[in-house]
Amino acid sequence: MKVAVLGAAGGIGQALSLLLKTQLPAGSELSLYDVAPVVPGVAVDLSHIPTDVKVAGFGKDNLADALIGADIVLIPAGVPRKPGMDRSDLFNINAGIVRNLIDAIADNCPEACIGVITNPVNTTVAIAAEALKAKGVYNKNKLFGVTTLDVIRAETFVGNLKGLNPANVHVPVIGGHSGTTILPLLSQVEGVSFTAEEVANLTTRIQNAGTEVVEAKAGGGSATLSMGQAAARFCLSLVAAMHGDNVVEYTYVETNSDDAMFFAHPVRLGKNGVEEILSYGKLSEFEENAKNAMLDGLRADIDLGVKFVKGA
Ligand code: NAD
Ligand code: LMR
Repeated sequence: MKVAVLGAAGGIGQALSLLLKTQLPAGSELSLYDVAPVVPGVAVDLSHIPTDVKVAGFGKDNLADALIGADIVLIPAGVPRKPGMDRSDLFNINAGIVRNLIDAIADNCPEACIGVITNPVNTTVAIAAEALKAKGVYNKNKLFGVTTLDVIRAETFVGNLKGLNPANVHVPVIGGHSGTTILPLLSQVEGVSFTAEEVANLTTRIQNAGTEVVEAKAGGGSATLSMGQAAARFCLSLVAAMHGDNVVEYTYVETNSDDAMFFAHPVRLGKNGVEEILSYGKLSEFEENAKNAMLDGLRADIDLGVKFVKGA
C-alpha cells in the first residue's frame, strides 16, 4: 500500500504522517510531498522511527515521483483560517492549489483513492471531481471529502457530556463540512438520550468546533493534531477496507441524491473505494429542519467548485 500525503510539511501533514508511519501495515510506503523546503527533513525525521513503513520526501519539482504508484492520496495542502474568517474565505487560494494537485494525480495515479482535507471541503471536493472529469479519469467511488473530524469531535463532546468513554461513543454526522452544513444525528446515538436543550447546544458546538480551535490558536492556524488523528483514522479505514475488512465511515461523497450532489453519508468502503452508500436513516424533526435549512447553502458551495473548473 502506498499512501501519498500532499502538504506533508504542514500542521496536519506532519501529524498525519507521524500517525501513518506508526500505524500503516508493515510493508507500506509513505510518500511526502510539499512545496515547503523542509519536506525532505520531515521524511528523514520520520524514517528514524522503527516501523516497516518506508518514507520518502519530495519537494516542489518532484510531485510526479511522489504520486506514481500511490493507492491513496491525502490532500491537506493549502492555507488554514485565522480568527474572523469563514472556511469559504480560503477559496481564492486553496481552489487553485487543489486543482493543480488533482491534475497531477490524474496524470500520475488516476486509479488512486483521494481524500480531500483542504478547505473549504464543501467546494474543494467539487473542484476535484470536475478536474478529474476534465482529465477523463473521474471515478466517484474514489473521491472523498474527509469529514471524520466532525465525527470524532461529536463523539468526544457527547462522551464528555454523558460521562462516557468517547472511544465507545458513535455519532453519525452527515451533510458538509462548514457551519450549519455539519449535521450531527444525535437522535441516532445508541444508549444515550438528550434533552432538547442538549441537542441544540451540542449541535451548535459541533458545528462551531473548528472556530473554537481557530480562536484558541489566536492566529496560529486551525485544527492540526485532531485533524491528523481524524485523517489517519479515515486512511486506515480505507486501507483496512482495501484489504477486505468490512468498514463503514461517514464521508463526503458524490451521492446525486435529492439532498445535494455531494453529501456526507455512512459509506461502506471496499477494495475500490466506495462499495455502497448507506442511508443515513430516519431524522428527528430537529434534524430534518436543520437539514432542509442548510441544503441551499451546501448546493451553492458545490456550484462554486463546479464553476471554478468549468470557467462559467
Ligand atoms: P498549514 O499551513 O500548517 O500546512 C499547509 C501545508 O500545505 C504547508 O506545509 C504548505 O507548504 C503546503 N502547501 C501549500 N501549497 C501547496 C501546494 N501547492 N502543494 C503542496 N503543498 C502545499 O495548514 P494546515 O493547518 O495543515 O491546514 C491545511 C488545510 O487543511 C487548510 O485548508 C485547512 O483549512 C484544512 N483543514 C481541514 C480540516 C477538515 O476537517 N477537512 C480540518 C482542519 C484543517
Ligand atoms: C476544522 O473543522 O477544524 C477545519 O475545517 C479547520 C477550520 O477552519 O475550522
